[in-house]
Amino acid sequence: MSNKPFVIVSHTLPEAWLAKLVETCEVLVGPETAVTPALSPELEAQLPHADGLMTMLTVRVDEALLAKAPNLRVVSNMAVGTDNVDKAACTARGIPVGNTPGVLTEGTADLAMAILLAVARRLPEASRDAREGRWTTWSPTGWLGADLNGATLGIIGLGQIGSAIAHRARAFGLNIVYHNRSRYPDKEQALKATWLPLPDLLAQSDFVMVSTPLTPDTHHLINAAALQMMKPTAILVNIARGPVVDSNALLTALRDGWIQAAALDVTDPEPLPADHPLYALPNCFITPHIGSAANGTRRAMAELAVENLLLGVQGERLKHCVNTAVYQ
Ligand code: GLV
Ligand code: GLV
Repeated sequence: MSNKPFVIVSHTLPEAWLAKLVETCEVLVGPETAVTPALSPELEAQLPHADGLMTMLTVRVDEALLAKAPNLRVVSNMAVGTDNVDKAACTARGIPVGNTPGVLTEGTADLAMAILLAVARRLPEASRDAREGRWTTWSPTGWLGADLNGATLGIIGLGQIGSAIAHRARAFGLNIVYHNRSRYPDKEQALKATWLPLPDLLAQSDFVMVSTPLTPDTHHLINAAALQMMKPTAILVNIARGPVVDSNALLTALRDGWIQAAALDVTDPEPLPADHPLYALPNCFITPHIGSAANGTRRAMAELAVENLLLGVQGERLKHCVNTAVYQ
């Protein structure tokens, strides 16, 4: 092995996205279809030599993995969320953990609006009906959906992505309410967003958007009790992490009409198996965690993850680090 730093990238990525990494490091990339949550066996075997590790959100980085990588100087997650990484274990070993905020904000907000609109206006059902021969006449009462203009959007988690959603939602004429641990007076003004306690947000919103990170505090935040507080006409959208919503409670809520419909870009578990009962519900629209899946966005994420990775192997402070305690 050369004396260049040796880094492992969990998944195959387009070469151009990794160009800067290949210039200065020895790089081992994972297979096209990576097995997760573990690293593929070929990659795992090389962990003892790794100076740096770049992961996707499906790879679990825990104490067991870290124990195999005694030389590791950085974990660079190509995602804004880092719930797949045991940050405390990394901190204890002095390993900084990088993430990719900012660059995926607009793309993810686009997807959030796309699935909100799709379900509000019943696009999947209308498209299927047209293709399958049920568009036999124009009907004044056919495929009626929900109006956005004048309705209320409740955003749970007004971080960068939640704010970008609010910005778009204003253009659609939605009134914005939000719930967040900390209040943001400046955003409240700029986005004309009103802070509400969670029960009030749930009771008043026509659309509820989940855009909060997954933490012990937000796990199953949307449980049976929360779903029962929502309007029977409400639409729930989750673009954050599956486990923020209790899947079983949601199943009951959609079946028994506690709420009208759901749009989920994230699920629990992921991938959601093809025989999962949520797919069988006509009022549940599911996309396979594609919030940031736009060309420019993904490339920018990869380049930022590479930047974090390179800084880490050089012993410099990461551009975006989620466990800054490591520097104290
Ligand atoms: C996507 O879900 C991310 O966290 O980047
Ligand atoms: C969370 O929603 C963030 O963008 O930080």
